Amino acid sequence: MSGLRIGVLASGSGSNLQSILDAVENNTLESEVVCILSNKEDAYCLERGKKHNVPTYFINHKADNYDEKMLEILGSHDVDLIVLAGYLKIISPEMVKRYPKKIINIHPSLLPKYGGKGYYGIRVHEAVIEAGDTESGATVHYVDCGVDTGDIILQQTVSVYEEDTPQMLQQRVLEEVEHKILVQAVRKLEVEGL
Ligand code: GRF
Repeated sequence: MSGLRIGVLASGSGSNLQSILDAVENNTLESEVVCILSNKEDAYCLERGKKHNVPTYFINHKADNYDEKMLEILGSHDVDLIVLAGYLKIISPEMVKRYPKKIINIHPSLLPKYGGKGYYGIRVHEAVIEAGDTESGATVHYVDCGVDTGDIILQQTVSVYEEDTPQMLQQRVLEEVEHKILVQAVRKLEVEGL
């Protein structure tokens, strides 16, 4: 197996998406990002896609046919792998069934710690600091029907310092870990196959 047709789902700034786009551009990855979907109309991730000439789509998650539309777009681009890169909605069981072990997510903690409902964004890092952990990190995992419960593909740690604020930790996890392991995980799937 080598190059995959990747569909990225994102809700925010899309710096993780950017790490994949850059890795495709500099040939670290053999895959291609074939479409980018967001549930937020003004999310910066859509701008990043446009700059790289990738088709981008906004789908309103409040619409009744949200899932259907998403599946239609992903199907029309013949997507092999779906990457959730800062995607803040829960994936429906229908979608998991349609793409079994073909959806991966990046989570900013060392799962199973600080995963599940309510643990997203800055809340994860607040919880790590509150608990007094000296180590945090990020995890790339398969998406199953639970929240942050799928099999782990890659995980990497980073130190937590006494003077850290949640924002400082968030930045460190993002730049030093997330942007690297997300690309490494896609590479692993390119090499090992889906
Ligand atoms: C990342 O911390 C990711 O782990 C989490 O949401 C954040 C998204 O950041 N799920 P970005 O939009 O990729 O910059």
